[in-house]
Amino acid sequence: MDLDDMASFCKKTGIIFQNSEIYGGLSGFWDYGPVGAQIKKNMVDLWWEEFVEKRDDVVGIDGSIISSSEVWKASGHVDSFSDPLVDCKKCKKRMRADRLIEEETGEKVEGEGPGKMDSIIEEKNISCPRCGGSLTDVREFNLMFETNLGSVDSEENKAYLRPETAQLIFTNFKQVVDSTRQKLPFGIAQIGRAFRNEVSPRNFVFRTREFGQMEIEYFVHPDNKKKCPFIDEEIRSYELQVLTAEHQRGGEGHERMTIGELVDGGYAETEWLAYWLYQHFNWFVKLGVDPKNLRLREHMEDELAHYAGSCFDIEYNFPFGWDEVYGNADRGDYDLRRHQEASGKKLGVYDQNKEEHVLPRVVSEPSQGIERSLMVFLMDAYTVEDGRKFLELDPRLAPVKCRIFPLMPKDGLDQKAREIYSSLDDRINVEYEESGSIGKRYARADEIGVPYCITVDYDTLEDDTVTIRDRNSTDQIRVVIDELYDVLKDLVFGDKTFEEFLEES
Ligand code: GLY
Repeated sequence: MDLDDMASFCKKTGIIFQNSEIYGGLSGFWDYGPVGAQIKKNMVDLWWEEFVEKRDDVVGIDGSIISSSEVWKASGHVDSFSDPLVDCKKCKKRMRADRLIEEETGEKVEGEGPGKMDSIIEEKNISCPRCGGSLTDVREFNLMFETNLGSVDSEENKAYLRPETAQLIFTNFKQVVDSTRQKLPFGIAQIGRAFRNEVSPRNFVFRTREFGQMEIEYFVHPDNKKKCPFIDEEIRSYELQVLTAEHQRGGEGHERMTIGELVDGGYAETEWLAYWLYQHFNWFVKLGVDPKNLRLREHMEDELAHYAGSCFDIEYNFPFGWDEVYGNADRGDYDLRRHQEASGKKLGVYDQNKEEHVLPRVVSEPSQGIERSLMVFLMDAYTVEDGRKFLELDPRLAPVKCRIFPLMPKDGLDQKAREIYSSLDDRINVEYEESGSIGKRYARADEIGVPYCITVDYDTLEDDTVTIRDRNSTDQIRVVIDELYDVLKDLVFGDKTFEEFLEES
C-alpha cells in the first residue's frame, strides 16, 4: 500500500483527515477522525502505562506548549534549530539545500554549514530543478514557531511554541525532584504536542508542522553512566536488525545483532542506551509490528543534533524507504547545564555519599513521534487476504473491541442484541450495529480493525448463546451470554488466544 492509498483509506474510515480541508487544506497539519482519535488514545495510553505507570523509576509531567524565549535561547534552539534553505532566483521556488544536493549528487550533507553547501552547489553546477534558474546563497531558517504574548509585539513579549517536549522536562527538573524525592537513576516522561515550521511537510503524517511526542529523559549519576542494572541475560540475547555507522560508511545494509553485541561491540555508548532502545523496539513488537520491518540505525557523526553525544533511531520500512519513528540521544548534561547557567538556579541533585550537588547526565532520551508510531501500526496492520481487507491491529490498539449485531433486526433478535450491548457497554468499548447485511457489517468492522464481532441469531433465543467471530481468521466460537465479558476480556488483554478458545469449543 502506498502513502496516497493509506491517506485515502484513513480519510474514508475516519482515522485521519486533512486539516482545513473545506478551505483547500493547510499543508503540514492533520486532524484525527473518530476512529483515529480512539486508536491514538489507546496507543498513547499503552505507552504511558508501560513506561510510567508500571515503573517505579519514571514519573510523568505535562508541560505547556508555549514557554519563555529564555528557555529556547538556553537550550540552543534559537541559535541552532534550523534547516538550510535556498531559493530559485527566477521562479522563487524555496527548497531545503541539503535535500537538493542529495537528490542531485547523491552526497549526504545534512549537518554541514551553509558555506560548504554553497561550494557544492557552485562546483556541481546545481540549478533549480523546476525551471533551471540559478540559486541564492544557502541560509539557515529557524524551525520554531514564534508568537507574542499580550497585545504588544516586542522582543520582551516574544515566546515560542515548543519544538520538542523535552525542554519542559529540563526546566521542571528541580521541581520534580523536590516534589517527588526521586533518587538517581530515574526518568521523567511527557506526552504532548510539539511544533516545527517544516519547509516542506510531506509523506502524509510523517513530516508535519504540528505533531505529538512521547518522550523520556533518563537521568543518572555522572559516575554511573555506563552500567545499567536492568540489563539481564534475556535482554542481552534479544535479537534485532541494526544498521551501524560503520555499515553506512561501507554502503552495507543492516544486520541482525543482539543487544549484548550492541553493547560489547561498542556501538551503543552505554548499557543505558541499549536498554532503552530494547524497551521501545520491543514495545512495537509486543503490540504486533513485524520486527523485520523495524531496525535500529546509528546516527553518523555529522547528523547529530546540537545537544547529542551519540544517537540511535528506530526506523520503520515505509513505502518511501526506511525512516525514523523514534530517536534516542545521549544528551549528557548539556541541557541542565545550559539552564543552570542561564537561569542562575542550581539544578543538581544532592549526592549523599559525596555530600555535594551533582548535575545528572541524560544517558538516554527515548523520543517517539505519535503520528509516525501510528503510521507504523496502521501500515503494519493493513492486510488484504482472499479479497478481504482488514486492519490486523492488536486488540488493545483497536478503536472498538467488539461489535454486536442481531442477525436480522427483527423477531426479538435486535432486542436481545441491545440487551447484550447494554450489559457490556460500561465495561469494555463495544458498539451495536444493525444496518446492512451481516457480511457488510463484518467488512466494515474488519476495515477499522475491530477484532471481534458478536452475532445474535435464532439459536440465541433458544439457548442464550451467541457467536464470536475473530477478525483475522473469520473463525467463530459459540459462547454462553453469561460468560461473554470474561471471554472478551481474556481475548482483548491477551490472557487467552482465539485459537485456544476454538480448540476448547
Ligand atoms: N527531544 C528530541 C527530539 O525532539 O527530537
